[in-house]
Amino acid sequence: TTHTFNWTTGWGMYNVDGVKDREVITCNGEFPWPDIKVNRGDRIVVYLNNGFTNANTSLHFHGLFQNGTSQMDGPPLVSQCPIAPNDTFIYNFTVPDNVGSYWYHSHVSGQYQDGMRGTLIIEEEGAVPYDYDEEVVVQLSEWYHDTTDVLINSFMNLYNPTGAEPIPQNLIINNTMNLTWNVEPDTTYLLRIINTGGFVSQYFWIEDHDLTVVEVDGVYTEQNTTDMLYITVAQRYSVLIHTKNDTSRNYAIMQKFDDTMLDVVPSDLQLNATSYMVYNSTTSLPSENYVDELDFLDDFYLVPYNKTELFDEPDYTITVDVAMDNLINGVNYAFFNNITYTTPKVPTLLTALSAGKNATDATVYGSNINAFVLEKDEVVEIVLNNLDSGTHPFHLHGHIFQVLVRDVEYDDTTHAFNADNHTAFPEYPMMRDTLYVRPQSNFVIRFKADNPGVWMFHCHIEWHLIQGLALILIEDPASIQSTASQQITENHKSVCKNVGVPYE
Ligand code: C2O
Repeated sequence: TTHTFNWTTGWGMYNVDGVKDREVITCNGEFPWPDIKVNRGDRIVVYLNNGFTNANTSLHFHGLFQNGTSQMDGPPLVSQCPIAPNDTFIYNFTVPDNVGSYWYHSHVSGQYQDGMRGTLIIEEEGAVPYDYDEEVVVQLSEWYHDTTDVLINSFMNLYNPTGAEPIPQNLIINNTMNLTWNVEPDTTYLLRIINTGGFVSQYFWIEDHDLTVVEVDGVYTEQNTTDMLYITVAQRYSVLIHTKNDTSRNYAIMQKFDDTMLDVVPSDLQLNATSYMVYNSTTSLPSENYVDELDFLDDFYLVPYNKTELFDEPDYTITVDVAMDNLINGVNYAFFNNITYTTPKVPTLLTALSAGKNATDATVYGSNINAFVLEKDEVVEIVLNNLDSGTHPFHLHGHIFQVLVRDVEYDDTTHAFNADNHTAFPEYPMMRDTLYVRPQSNFVIRFKADNPGVWMFHCHIEWHLIQGLALILIEDPASIQSTASQQITENHKSVCKNVGVPYE
């Protein structure tokens, strides 16, 4: 089956949080953007028409492996040129290898925080290895009262030398505040919870109802029951909820900011937002019911349902230190190993295609993109040391990865991470595509380089991506070059031409 979408971007005035009208990015003049459901193996074709007058755009399908179609991955100047105003780019690919909860979003600075995003569910008969009666998609985000370009101007500014991130005004759920979810008694729901925000992690819980985790980031897991989830931006959790056999009252659905991620917590910021799980519409709604003794589930201990074993010892280890600092212009930037990602003039995928044998030499990609070349099928380990004082959710395109270590403490005297603080690696490590690291802490992940393409690895806090917290993996350049489907289409060339990128 082919699902064809014809989408034109634009701006419109909407009141999303019930508090303030503001400009948002519309899809064919409407808001919000569509939520998509397809079956595994289907083809998705999106005609993305740039209806903005003064901004480029692009679309990324978060979590999809794009096996053989790296050129459809979306990040501008990585896999394609940015789409200029009035131009159209056609995303055209199948989804043979993904099933579960995903989303799509603009990959151009901050556009998705203005609303250019939607959920993407890929289904397959029997893929969820548990029984449930009904499925519900829950999209979480934070919301700002200013548009992102206004926020970026004051953020990337010498008057903001510490890089304090803009503070959102509200938490939203399915593009509204205080959602009402009408439930049936004695029913099992599969809630697909997707954080499409651009900055702050959220706690999520439902008053007096257990959440049984069965999926993270498109990976089905053994069941794990908890009171509360902690969801960073770009992460997804599917949970089973069994409703009560009693319709005498209604319950609170709670979201709460992880306020440790905010530089300052304004006194008027509501840290909680309440929505309603309604069994009985003739009974009163619950009042705000904040319970702070709940413990959230540590995703490190989740076990994939298919019990993929720990990959072999790595053939290649990439160690990156994360730091934030000012450059000479006084503006705060983010760094992997002292390099702040700066977009190249030409998409890196194009460079890989045109570099011939030199494509295996990381230096051909330039010194400002943090390029790492991976060999076919090798086991790659990324050791990420977060020397910064903030929490960061890191996302790898084109893969899920195993999580071997997290939260090993940084030793201030030896200036190293104390390896003694972790014991054995898990036998069946949790796998996902977006993982947080705590301040002054680290993580170690592994994956197999079995998906030729050019892939970003970056902090999914949009502010930090704008600050340059990204690196690029060029995976198996020979296969990239030899795979016909990896070849650039006429459409890729015309889009490049429209933004003045030379094309030989
Ligand atoms: Cu959700 Cu680089 O993306």
